Amino acid sequence: MASKGKRSKSSSRWLQRQQRDYFVRQAQDKGQVSRAHYKLVQLDQRFKLLRGHFKVLELGAAPGGWTNYLQDKLPKGVLIAVDPLPITAAAGTHVIEGEAGEPEVEAQIGHILGDAGLDLVLSDMAPNISGVRAVDQARAMELADVALHTCTLWLRRGGGLVLKAFQGEGLDAWVQARRRQFEKVTLTKPRASRPESREVFVVARGYHGGPDDAGHTAKGA
Ligand SMILES: C[S@@+](CC[C@H](N)C(=O)[O-])C[C@H]1O[C@@H](n2cnc3c(N)ncnc32)[C@H](O)[C@@H]1O
Repeated sequence: MASKGKRSKSSSRWLQRQQRDYFVRQAQDKGQVSRAHYKLVQLDQRFKLLRGHFKVLELGAAPGGWTNYLQDKLPKGVLIAVDPLPITAAAGTHVIEGEAGEPEVEAQIGHILGDAGLDLVLSDMAPNISGVRAVDQARAMELADVALHTCTLWLRRGGGLVLKAFQGEGLDAWVQARRRQFEKVTLTKPRASRPESREVFVVARGYHGGPDDAGHTAKGA
């Protein structure tokens, strides 16, 4: 542990990187909640993800960078933001404090949606990093399955999924399996994602159901 008043090498490196980082500076200058905001802006610019009336579920929403962007883009829509950590959100957003996949969280989402289906599921969820690559990758893939499960519960036919993932064990097979459930699946890395990170985004559009890897079939599919 670093002694009082002294920074550890890794935290100094992190601080230097933050100071150099263009998108961190942009977020600070423009009063954005987080640097992550720019990743969604770039994904939306490229894939035209959002329409003003869409019903959107955002998983892994804290501290609220994406939420902030989504609120402006959904003037007539519904936004549900889920995270165990506090989310900065405007009054109209449905904030659920808890972990995606928990029964109570699912019950709250179901209550908000009623019979309506979602147009889009967004997941920027990331596991707590243990530093053991295989463990972290396995946890990230579990979160991908959690996001996918919400699709089988609520995503309407033709809807989309945008999911943060990490290059590594299991991802290629996972993406391949999504090609059986969505018309078009693209793996992409927005400019705002740090080049040295294994982070990528799966953009899947045109949901047509079909069983997920656990054999769950989409409602109404
Ligand atoms: C990279 S941050 C999200 C940043 C956010 N999109 C933004 O723009 O501010 C990843 C988040 O995933 C959340 N997370 C991890 N596991 C989760 C789960 N099972 N359900 C919901 N959120 C989860 C973490 O608490 C963390 O806040």
